[in-house]
Amino acid sequence: MSREMESFIRRLEKHHDELRWLYMELYDNGSMFAELCDRMGSFCLERNEELKKRDAVREADPNWYKQNDVLGMMFYIDNFAGNMKGVADRLEYLEKCNVNYIHLMPFLDTVEGRSDGGYAVADFRKVQDKLGSMEDLENLTKACHEKKINVCMDFVMNHTSDAHEWARKAREGNGEYMSRYFFFDNPDIPSQYERTVPQVFPTTAPGNFTWLPDAGHYVMTTFYPYQWDLNYRNPRVFNEMMYNFLYLANRGIDIFRIDAVPYIWKELNTSCRNLPRVHTIVRMMRMIGEVVCPSVLLLGEVVMEPEKVVPYFGTVEKPECHMLYNVTTMATTWHTVATRDVRLLREQLNAVNGLPKEYVFLNYLRCHDDIGWGLDYGSLLREGIEERSHKQYLNDYFQGYAGDSNSRGELYNADPVTGDARFCGTTASMCGIEKAGFEQDKEAMEKAIDLDIMLHAYMFMQSGIPVLYGGDEIGQVNDYTYKEDPLKAKDSRYLHRGAMNWELVKNIERHGTAEGEIFHRLAELERIRKREKVFASDAQTCTVETYDRSVLGICREMEGEKLIGLFNFSESESTAWINTTDGEYVDLCSGRKIWPAEVHLSGYGFCYLKKTFL
Ligand code: GLC
Repeated sequence: MSREMESFIRRLEKHHDELRWLYMELYDNGSMFAELCDRMGSFCLERNEELKKRDAVREADPNWYKQNDVLGMMFYIDNFAGNMKGVADRLEYLEKCNVNYIHLMPFLDTVEGRSDGGYAVADFRKVQDKLGSMEDLENLTKACHEKKINVCMDFVMNHTSDAHEWARKAREGNGEYMSRYFFFDNPDIPSQYERTVPQVFPTTAPGNFTWLPDAGHYVMTTFYPYQWDLNYRNPRVFNEMMYNFLYLANRGIDIFRIDAVPYIWKELNTSCRNLPRVHTIVRMMRMIGEVVCPSVLLLGEVVMEPEKVVPYFGTVEKPECHMLYNVTTMATTWHTVATRDVRLLREQLNAVNGLPKEYVFLNYLRCHDDIGWGLDYGSLLREGIEERSHKQYLNDYFQGYAGDSNSRGELYNADPVTGDARFCGTTASMCGIEKAGFEQDKEAMEKAIDLDIMLHAYMFMQSGIPVLYGGDEIGQVNDYTYKEDPLKAKDSRYLHRGAMNWELVKNIERHGTAEGEIFHRLAELERIRKREKVFASDAQTCTVETYDRSVLGICREMEGEKLIGLFNFSESESTAWINTTDGEYVDLCSGRKIWPAEVHLSGYGFCYLKKTFL
């Protein structure tokens, strides 16, 4: 028996009983389970030598992704570099950005105009023609690996496009394929579901079902009408989707972002969110990955309140996702920008810092989606802040209508019934860079850049891995051209998904440009983060009292080193008062020695203060 097969069997033996138990509990189908194990063996054999080496190295060092040098960047391939080959040509730029993990936004086959930004997959084994081919993907992952860059992709497992082969066959009335989705020939059950299932896109795609006149059936469509929900009660769906996952892992993908994971199991009379079976499926997927391709990580997309997010890590003995998005912290960050009051953010960070260090969060200031105002309203209410009016305030603020706001952006899915709305805009536009640029106001530009950089500096100090949105490193602003494209005009998320402007990138070498200032100041922070071990995701992290409502203090400690970060969320000067008897610290940005008991910060200023204890 080959060495690879021996490792496969060893890994399968480790997980077999639990995997079988969960599978049989869910499906009670021994022959489908046997097929699954068989195919896992074939995928393992098909995995190329380099990937197998990667597996061996990472199996021996399972904490590899928790180091302080991991920095991600996400982008749409066409926006960033035209196609896959274009991305391969831009790897040097990515290295210059200190990035060693790229998230390639959805690139699998989809129908133009009915794609939801690629989240409606028509073929899990085909790359969109305009972006390249599977071979290009393999070449790209290989080139990335040579430069020590990890590659992440979306695995959209909740639904397929209605152009997917299964959907086409189901639409023709083929029972086997209909059973892979949720089909109903009358409105009774759909309307029963509607009573308890909330809506994801209340304005752009209301309801959870779509009537198909040609098929004479309703089909479940939680997202857009052309995104048909898969039925994971059918073991064929689970097995085939796992084969797709392994097929893509064998193309060299390192990180799978499981899209919309809370939605993958449906039950009548429930919200169809976060049901216990979802965890069974994710746990099985984790084990399948560990057996076939142990270098691969799972990143769960759970855009919900913290109590619902954390269970997706599973337990220490039975882990599910390796990493999850820190979505509430992201939303709370922008709340803090709008209120200049760090108290809620501090509570939120304390809650995250109290979790086991095995849990790794992905931190970000914004992504390709809207910002939903999912804050801890219980806590805000104790301060007299009420949910509905506060959401209104935040939306007004970031549109530039309220308070001392310099932000620019647009609402998303404003629901006339609940009065709820989410928000779209790039980091730079939300910080005031768009407005200052338009008005050619130098002073305002400096302030806006200071805010932008301070937010990144603070994000780098959070517990976990930071991910930048491609273009943010040069302060790209909102792109209003989506309004001219009838296929995009209704979805304001395209506002912050503009194409990378390579002309502006040239400015990073020019003195006195906003792009250059942002890029170099960020790069300096990235280098500090990479150099200092104390940024590792398993460092002890806590918040620090600063006795100033607009200054956030974060402390990280690891192996005799201590780092205190102070971040001023106000445009005015502030002073942080820290209770410390440690003596002098060194400011990592200026090199100055500082006694941190009383630290003066300029408007939107920050500092990283370090001390080594021998
Ligand atoms: C995720 C994606 C979002 C998409 C949805 C449906 O939330 O981030 O862009 O619309 O899933 O697939």
